[in-house]
This record gives sequence, structure tokens and C-alpha cells, in this order.
Amino acid sequence: MDCDPGHDDAISLILAASKGSGLSIEAITTVAGNVEVEKNTLNALKVCDMIGLTNVPVAMGATKPLLKKQAIAGEIHGDTGLDGPDLPEVPSRQAVDQHAVDLIIDKLLYAEEKLTLVPTGPLTNIAMAMIREPGILDSIEEIVLMGGGTFGNWTPVAEFNIWVDAEAAKLVLESGVPITMFGLDVTHQALATREVMDNLSEIGNPVSEFVVELLEFFSKTYKDVFGFEAGPIHDACTAAYLIEPEIFDFKHVRVDVETKGEFTYGMTSVDLLGVTNGKPNVRFATQLNEGRFWKLFDRALRSYSFT
Ligand code: RIB
Ligand code: CA
Repeated sequence: MDCDPGHDDAISLILAASKGSGLSIEAITTVAGNVEVEKNTLNALKVCDMIGLTNVPVAMGATKPLLKKQAIAGEIHGDTGLDGPDLPEVPSRQAVDQHAVDLIIDKLLYAEEKLTLVPTGPLTNIAMAMIREPGILDSIEEIVLMGGGTFGNWTPVAEFNIWVDAEAAKLVLESGVPITMFGLDVTHQALATREVMDNLSEIGNPVSEFVVELLEFFSKTYKDVFGFEAGPIHDACTAAYLIEPEIFDFKHVRVDVETKGEFTYGMTSVDLLGVTNGKPNVRFATQLNEGRFWKLFDRALRSYSFT
């Protein structure tokens, strides 16, 4: 899980680590994105403490994009990057001494089977790993990422994760590795409405209460900044897909990343109608079964009642 927690990254991690997810998390790596990578790393460690995931290595990654200077989204996630819930000042452990890029490479090269990469922040670490060790490409089962879309949220046409490091995104999307992309078209269907939050509040264990506090904060900032009635839990779509792929519909299309345009830098050109002759390189998520998504969410959070 390569992430920039970030409220929705934290929730994605909580779903992925839940009992019955069927998933085994090999490593958690952090990248400069929502806030500075040092803060994202502290947040990742604190979330691991919250859910008892203390046996999975957490490694800090890129401090900035490949070429551009760093940009953060503090207005959405707050100064800590995980504002809202009361969290301990310091986590119970430190990040490992290894750089995230090297941990990703080692995990892939020495794994007994192919591994799935789940980036939910800018793609800087993934691109750096591919540049540093091209031999990892054959060891990647799939890249399941949150990013992009047919419209933007950071510019009119660019989504934040891609916009922060479009050069990294371009390299990853052109790598030839199977890509499953959860862009804004589908993540804006995963809305944590008041009804959703009230339902989740009935679960009543420490993890579900933590998630509701995250959702309350995230939804408020989304209302203040974007005028949304509810916060879209973007990154949680990646974990939900890995747990129950059938709740999504996809189109296998060509997606290219703009890295030069004055107004279009960071845009993902999603060829839904096949009007270019580009070779399809992405399974692009188009539809979410909301009822099944929130049932999965509820089931995952209830699984923490028995820890
Ligand atoms: O545009 C949404 C994405 O940007 C999410 O991954 C969120 O966590 C932020 O990183
Ligand atoms: Ca994120």
C-alpha cells in the first residue's frame, strides 16, 4: 500500500487490513502528497497502531515529485494530514530504516509470487522503483491505483494524485504493467452521506469510531472547499475492489497523461469511446454498486469488534 494518509488513504488501509478481507499487506510505503511525507509517515504508523497492524513494515518514500516542487492538500486533510480524530502524539514504532522505493523493490524481487501494488497518492515512489530496478515489472501482478478521471479536482481537468507528479504517472501508465484505475468518475460515487455515517456509528468499536471521526472531518472540509453534501472516500475504492471486485464495472481503455499543457498538465486523457488508436492500457472503473460498497465497509469495520 503506497499512500499519503490522508483520511481516505487511512480508511483504505483499515478496509484492507480487516479480518475476512482475504488480503495480506506486505508493506506500507508513504509518499509526499496530501501533506509532507514525514507527516504522512507518522499518520501511517498511527493508523497501524489503531488497528493493531504492527507487524507490517512502514517505509518513508519520496519527499517531492520527480521534477516539480511539492504541492500539498492541507485544506482537505488539515495540518497533520489526519485532522479530526484525537491521535497519540507519537506512534508506538518508527518507520523502517530502508527507503520506500528500496522496500518496494525488495518485496517484489524476493516475493514467492507476484504482488499487487496499491498506490493511493502521487505515483512518485512507483515510478522511482521502476526506474531504479526495471526487473520488478515482471513481478507486479497489477497496479490498483486511485487517481485521474475524465475531469479534475485540482485543476478543471487534473485530479490531485496525477497532478502532483504527472511525469511519474505517465511512466507508470506506459510501463506495460496491468493497471486498474479508480478515478473521480467512480470515487465520487463513494459518498459518505450523513445516513452512511449514522449507520457506521452504530457499530461502536474503537476502529469504527475512528473511521466515523475521519469521515466527519473529511466530509466537512469537502463541503467547505467543494460544496459537496458528502465526502467522496476516493482511496477506499482500491481496497474495496481487492476485497470484492464484482462491485465495480470497468472499461478497458487507452489512458494517456498530459505532462506539457499550460492548462492541462496532469490531465488523464481517458479514451472511453476508442477514438484514438492508442493500445488500451488501463481498466478504468466506471460504476460502483453503492449498496454493496457500504455493506462491505460495514462488514469490514464490524470485523474489528472482535480483536
Ligand atoms: O484526488 C483525491 C486523492 O488525492 C486521494 O488519494 C486523496 O487522498 C488525495 O491524495
Ligand atoms: Ca491519497
